[in-house]
Amino acid sequence: MNNFLEISQLSRQEAELLIQQALAYKNGATYPSYSQHTVANLFYENSTRTRVSFELAANHLKMPVINLDMQRSSESKGEVIEDTVKTLAAMGISVMVVRHSQEGLPALLASKTPSHVHLVNAGDGKHAHPSQALLDMVTIANHKPHLSQLKIAVVGDISHSRVAGSLQCLCALLGVGALTFIAPDIWQPTHLLYGQRTASLKEGLKDADVVFCLRVQQERLRDNERFDLARYREQFMVTQAALKYAKPDAIVMHPGPMNRGVEIDSLVADGPQSVIFEQIQNGVFARMAIYQALLN
Ligand code: CP
Repeated sequence: MNNFLEISQLSRQEAELLIQQALAYKNGATYPSYSQHTVANLFYENSTRTRVSFELAANHLKMPVINLDMQRSSESKGEVIEDTVKTLAAMGISVMVVRHSQEGLPALLASKTPSHVHLVNAGDGKHAHPSQALLDMVTIANHKPHLSQLKIAVVGDISHSRVAGSLQCLCALLGVGALTFIAPDIWQPTHLLYGQRTASLKEGLKDADVVFCLRVQQERLRDNERFDLARYREQFMVTQAALKYAKPDAIVMHPGPMNRGVEIDSLVADGPQSVIFEQIQNGVFARMAIYQALLN
């Protein structure tokens, strides 16, 4: 694996190995050292979880990390991003972790960068967030390893969510039993690779093993894509009452950042079925597994 750009580039075996390696790290496997490889984080969109966990993962593997402040880079003087990436490659950076609003940009950069440099997609517009899908599946597999018997229900703003897109690809690749997307019609996915959709929270959550909440992505909504938030809360917010439609041992997930009281009630986010902060912890192990797969 030379770059980590989207789930569709992975074989089933590669995806399973990444999950196994992340779980091995979680369970105490010795960390290798890749101290000769330097990582650069290029985050053109805001991030807390993804940026910090890629940095922590690199620290655990003894890799030096450069965090570029993209507001202060020479792109403000007219340099194009392709030249920024080539400049960093010329200085000996081995791995570049890129988050950008432009869909497909990490793949484009990978095609223009020397092959000894590894590009990692840390989220590109609405398109993909493959390391998030990996950490989500690590969390699911840790709690419920029989993926072919699971029902995963994803509720929220599906159509603007790169998290939902990458999770859908990974569910298809790994043969997850059932996948249901729950959203108002206006936020339903335009086409489905895998799974089904419904606008009924009750129907969608019925017998779910995993309830996966998504944020309403206000920053990506065009004027004709808005849905009244009070109505959204009433019909789609995951509350303790709504959670009763799922299986009693269902786990509750959210990729973060959460908007408490919009897509998820605080009593659910902080409740006994929530594994939301475990997802964040697993993000570090998943990203260590990605670095290892790229550098071995
Ligand atoms: N889930 C996720 O991508 O969070 P951040 O935007 O904080 O990185």
